[in-house]
Amino acid sequence: MSDRRLILAVETSCDDTCAAVLTRDGEIRANVISSQGIHDRYGGVVPEIASRHHLELIDAAVADALRQAETSLPELDLVAVTRGPGLVAALLVGLSSAKALAAAHRLPLAAVDHLHGHVAASFIGDAPLPPPFVSLVASGGHTFVARVEDHGPGYAVLGQTLDDAAGEAFDKGARLLGLGYPGGPALERLAADGDPEAFAFPTAARVRGLDFSFAGVKTALLYAVRDLGSEAPARRADLAASYQRAIVESLATRAARALEHTGLHRLAIGGGVAANGALRARLGELGAQLDVPPRALCTDNAAMIASAARFTPALEYPRYLDLDVYASGELPRCASPR
Ligand code: KG4
Ligand code: ZN
Repeated sequence: MSDRRLILAVETSCDDTCAAVLTRDGEIRANVISSQGIHDRYGGVVPEIASRHHLELIDAAVADALRQAETSLPELDLVAVTRGPGLVAALLVGLSSAKALAAAHRLPLAAVDHLHGHVAASFIGDAPLPPPFVSLVASGGHTFVARVEDHGPGYAVLGQTLDDAAGEAFDKGARLLGLGYPGGPALERLAADGDPEAFAFPTAARVRGLDFSFAGVKTALLYAVRDLGSEAPARRADLAASYQRAIVESLATRAARALEHTGLHRLAIGGGVAANGALRARLGELGAQLDVPPRALCTDNAAMIASAARFTPALEYPRYLDLDVYASGELPRCASPR
């Protein structure tokens, strides 16, 4: 029997102010994402500015989501919110709003882990993916590969980045090539005109097992730009294409190892980097069934938080009132193959 009860979710862990309404059985009724844009001029997200903008935008985002879903607060069954990891001042805006909304109507509150949210994005949308599957999450803040046995909240992290996140590597590389923030989409556009074989950038092949490292490729790009000197501007497309290829290879190698290690044949990707066409094409060659949620579910959004909330124990009023946020969390890691 279908379950049409409604969840309102709020997500403010970074620079997008998000609110969504989802039914208990995973139908998206509204998925509002208000991107702040303002950070482009600083070349990255400024936490204090992000939180100030969340404060200005959160009420409108929630109101829009409720309106689009043709519902209202008293009709809700549950309020969900991202508790961490993320920017503390930004998370606090979402958590405080969610507590207030839930408390005013004596609703239960589910405090969701942002990374469980990225994994749970695959449980909703037009073609929900049933577990078990391998999940590769690559965003501006996180990069990990996990075995997803069930809907959670637990999942087994097989490998994660030892330094930068994949999106961060795209952003830093883009900055070295004189592109704006966020760098991933701009770098991908530039790479379309370049030769991915022009420069042999490292793919962290020596990092064993399923962990990722992007510090080496970033340094290699820095040196290549420096060594090219006045020639560098003319080689920007080749540099971008080769750099993108190295990051994609690094991600694809670990995804392939995770599929082999788990014996699973389904691969889901999530996080902002999942929008990258070269990555999608490369992962498509691995021979697994590839699940790429639509872009609005890959980048930060509240529908994925509502999705995860369906599988996260909720707290009844007033037990959630003293909940706090967390900036970073321990991933539920399991023994990684070496
Ligand atoms: O998941 P997301 O929206 O926010 C975080 O949780 O970080 O991911 C944003 C990241 C940024 O680093 C951005 O440069 C990267 O995703 N990104 C891309 C592309 N689109 C977004 N990276 C590579 N290629 C893209 N097309
Ligand atoms: Zn994210």
